[in-house]
Amino acid sequence: NDLYAVVGNPISHSKSPRIHSLFASQTGEKLEYTAIQAPEDDFVGTVTGFFQRGGQGLNVTVPFKEQAWKLADRRTERAELAGAANTLYQDSEGLLTADNTDGKGLVMDLSENHCITLAGKRILVLGAGGAVRGVLGPLLAEKPSALVIANRTVAKAEGLVTLFEPFAEQTLLEACGFEELKEPFDLIINGTSASLQGDLPPISANVIGAGTVVYDMMYSLQTTTFNQWALDHGATLVFDGLGMLVEQAAESFRIWRGVSPETRPVIDELRND
Ligand code: ATR
Repeated sequence: NDLYAVVGNPISHSKSPRIHSLFASQTGEKLEYTAIQAPEDDFVGTVTGFFQRGGQGLNVTVPFKEQAWKLADRRTERAELAGAANTLYQDSEGLLTADNTDGKGLVMDLSENHCITLAGKRILVLGAGGAVRGVLGPLLAEKPSALVIANRTVAKAEGLVTLFEPFAEQTLLEACGFEELKEPFDLIINGTSASLQGDLPPISANVIGAGTVVYDMMYSLQTTTFNQWALDHGATLVFDGLGMLVEQAAESFRIWRGVSPETRPVIDELRND
């Protein structure tokens, strides 16, 4: 069997082995997918060893996505822009290639699973870290009318605006601080890691209007802290990042195997775990 794995630290709670095993049995692809905990100080050795043992492809997760990006011999255009990689494989010439499927995963989840059109919409993105940088390219490619990046550290949001300005052809791309947010948006995406600490970005509930859709890139069994806040302030449609997690995996699976798995049954199955 061809061998794949996800590398992170910690890794024991990763859902990737389960997702890819479900994809494999659904599509009849013969592969094995494991989880590897790399030592904090030896990501490179872990990756090199994996491919030397004949491994075919890796997913990369916290805290190694930037290191994976640096390590690669070549990067896809979307990985280049994302500044981080979640997918590694060797191309036909044996070069270690880095891709980033997170942004595609988010857009697929919004558009295919939740039937939300992004074209012409006003989008608010909260956060300006690696997770947000990874999804901005694919979001802008959908041509929203406006995309506002709000962050605790405004300079980081401004840096992302400078970086992505060339890709915002039909979008008004702006940066601001949380306290400047006063108007409702069509879609709010939480890309801060605040909820990891059960924390909330301090924003006015005025960002939530009658038709506002709220998406937390975070995923947890219970309603996330951010989504609960949104529900408490009148939001009626809130989604967490489980669909994004499965969709980014599906995109990696497509890259490695050339086969598109069906994601809906996998999302449903994970939701019921
Ligand atoms: P990730 O890979 O998850 O994006 P990161 O690059 O460390 O991790 O970025 C974390 C993001 O969450 C940043 O936007 C951070 O804000 P700062 O840039 O100001 O640090 C944001 N964040 C983390 N904890 C937060 C909190 N308690 N309140 C608001 N924002 C928070």
